[in-house]
Amino acid sequence: MAYRVGIVGGDGIGPEVIAEGLKVIDAAGVSLDTVDYDLGGARYLDDGTVLPDSVLAEWRDLDAIFLGAVGAPGVPPGVIERGLLLKMRFELDLYVNLRPFKLAATDDAPGHDFMVVRENTEGTYAGEGGFLRKNTPHEIATQGSVNTRMGAERAVRFAFDLAKTRNNHLTLVHKTNVLTFSGDLWERAFNEVQAADYADVETAYNHVDAACIYFVQDPQRYDVIVTDNLFGDILTDLGGAVSGGIGLASSANLNPARTGPSMFEPVHGSAPDIAGQQKANPIAAILSGAMMLDFLAEGDDHGGATADAAARVRAACDACVSMTGSTSEIGDAVSSKL
Ligand code: IPM
Ligand code: MN
Repeated sequence: MAYRVGIVGGDGIGPEVIAEGLKVIDAAGVSLDTVDYDLGGARYLDDGTVLPDSVLAEWRDLDAIFLGAVGAPGVPPGVIERGLLLKMRFELDLYVNLRPFKLAATDDAPGHDFMVVRENTEGTYAGEGGFLRKNTPHEIATQGSVNTRMGAERAVRFAFDLAKTRNNHLTLVHKTNVLTFSGDLWERAFNEVQAADYADVETAYNHVDAACIYFVQDPQRYDVIVTDNLFGDILTDLGGAVSGGIGLASSANLNPARTGPSMFEPVHGSAPDIAGQQKANPIAAILSGAMMLDFLAEGDDHGGATADAAARVRAACDACVSMTGSTSEIGDAVSSKL
């Protein structure tokens, strides 16, 4: 049976890269039953719609959501980010944002890949805070960080499980020397989960500022990283930048409990400056599509062919990664490898 997938091309280059992602999935032999949703900054500017509850209700019955990028000039900051993207992450309980990075071999270093598990439903993203005396000389703004033991622990457990499927090495990244409350909770969750259930996984800890140096100078030290929402947001842009550019960086917003659909999107944004010009690299979206196939396959008793398709898509992307061409030319090249 075809997987039921909601498509949100979104704004800017989003629809262009998603078209290539779908083209490649089709070429890999996986048939999807897609439903299009016209949502994003442009739709908001058009008629004020952000994410209707009726759409959210429909999504709960889907197998997955494939999203390009949302955000358009002229929309006030936060309207689409909070109202659509974060609402999707929170309401569908997409508590892991999984972001893989692959470094090509160079003259100085061998190839290497590593993954960041970003907690995706809490921290500063929870939106705690507010203003007092706004727009007066005595204005106060607070922006809190929400960290539940449950939230940290479930991200940490996912990361330990992932490490066990790879090289048995997990690094916690935080800022425990300054964030002595949330950092303490994260560190205890990490250490206690390891002691209880993952004694065989080797662990490390880095402060986030030091991790920025290691991302640039020594990424080989990492296999799996687990970190909070904001640190994960920032670190994964850096991860993209050091591994071939943000045009290659893919991500999966996962509900590992599978109580609803998970959502798959490139790390990059809508890039309105190059929208509609076929200039965007579709590889990030195509690899996000491969992550979608992987996750669908894992949840499917008959998912073998889908998992195989995901592996073939990744190999085809590897073969095309240094190619230049238009968005659709790159999508065609990847498809032709399949
Ligand atoms: C990302 C993006 C989002 C985030 C924005 C658009 C809200 O930067 O997916 O990394 O901060 O999570
Ligand atoms: Mn980001």
